[in-house]
Amino acid sequence: MTVIVREAKPSDKKPLMDFVTKTWGGHDYVPSVWDEWLRDKGGKMFVVEVDGKLVGMNRVRLLKDGTGWLEGVRIHPDFRGKGLASLLGEKSMKYASNLGVSTFRLTSSSRNRAARRQVAKMGFSEVARFDVFRARTKSRLLRGGGVDRLSPSDLSKALRMIRGSEEYRAGKGVYWDAFVTRALDRESLSELIAKRYVFSARDEEGNSAVAVCGPSREGEEVWLQMSFLCGEPALCKKIVSHLFRSSRPKRDENFVFLPKGSRLSKSLKEVGLKKYFQMVVFERRLD
Ligand SMILES: CC(C)(COP(=O)(O)OP(=O)(O)OC[C@H]1O[C@@H](n2cnc3c(N)ncnc32)[C@H](O)[C@@H]1OP(=O)(O)O)[C@@H](O)C(=O)NCCC(=O)NCCS
Repeated sequence: MTVIVREAKPSDKKPLMDFVTKTWGGHDYVPSVWDEWLRDKGGKMFVVEVDGKLVGMNRVRLLKDGTGWLEGVRIHPDFRGKGLASLLGEKSMKYASNLGVSTFRLTSSSRNRAARRQVAKMGFSEVARFDVFRARTKSRLLRGGGVDRLSPSDLSKALRMIRGSEEYRAGKGVYWDAFVTRALDRESLSELIAKRYVFSARDEEGNSAVAVCGPSREGEEVWLQMSFLCGEPALCKKIVSHLFRSSRPKRDENFVFLPKGSRLSKSLKEVGLKKYFQMVVFERRLD
């Protein structure tokens, strides 16, 4: 068996998509992002050939916070269990480490046993787990406003509050950009405020809550995603209700990502949100 791992090229699309489109009963997002990934200079796609046949792919993204993000690993069903996903992973980490990256992260659904075992074998450990809540009905969302969009002058105050929160600690200091975790630092928060994605609510006793919320996209799919939330529970309910009530996308496409075990889970349930699935974040640091 001759195995070659190399960078992806445009002509790889057809043979790869012939099997990738069948992943998860045809619900895989990779076919819709392939062209974008191939063009993107902020990352690199790799493929694996066995005896001249294309049987797998993956991608490493170089994030602004200096970490490498591994994603999109897909191995042809007839070629699984032969160590090919790990070969692709090692190759992409080598590529990124040559560019100075030493921390790598990736995510998978908690239900994906094969992925979990495969990444453990590659030296990754779980560092955080998030519950993803979905609003299927607006009926229990609270009415009323009192929610403000933050402006650049709010940056330092919001950052202090976020950094002091249980959600920031339990979530290892990240927010979610679609299904990629990114460091929630001064630079990213400033960008999120400029995009008008950061909201707050406060009450007369001086309590407050902050949320990062905006439209997310993966290929053709667009949804509203609250990718960070912290603060006083009643005010968190107020923010979620306000943003999800007025949301444009279909109502079952509103998600909140919350670190597992957060006390805010109860608040989300009180306004009718339900746990939908769980995402696990894995990390490996090269020595
Ligand atoms: C997950 C996936 C990428 C693994 O690819 P792979 O090439 O088969 O993985 P490897 O052969 O490198 O696996 C290495 C280890 O992972 C574990 N593993 C792989 N598949 C497994 C399975 N179906 N069940 C349990 N463990 C599994 C094993 O421990 C294996 O080591 P071992 O064979 O020495 O015991 C592949 O199953 C796949 O393409 N699945 C569909 C897409 C997907 O889930 N991608 C990941 C999304 S995050």
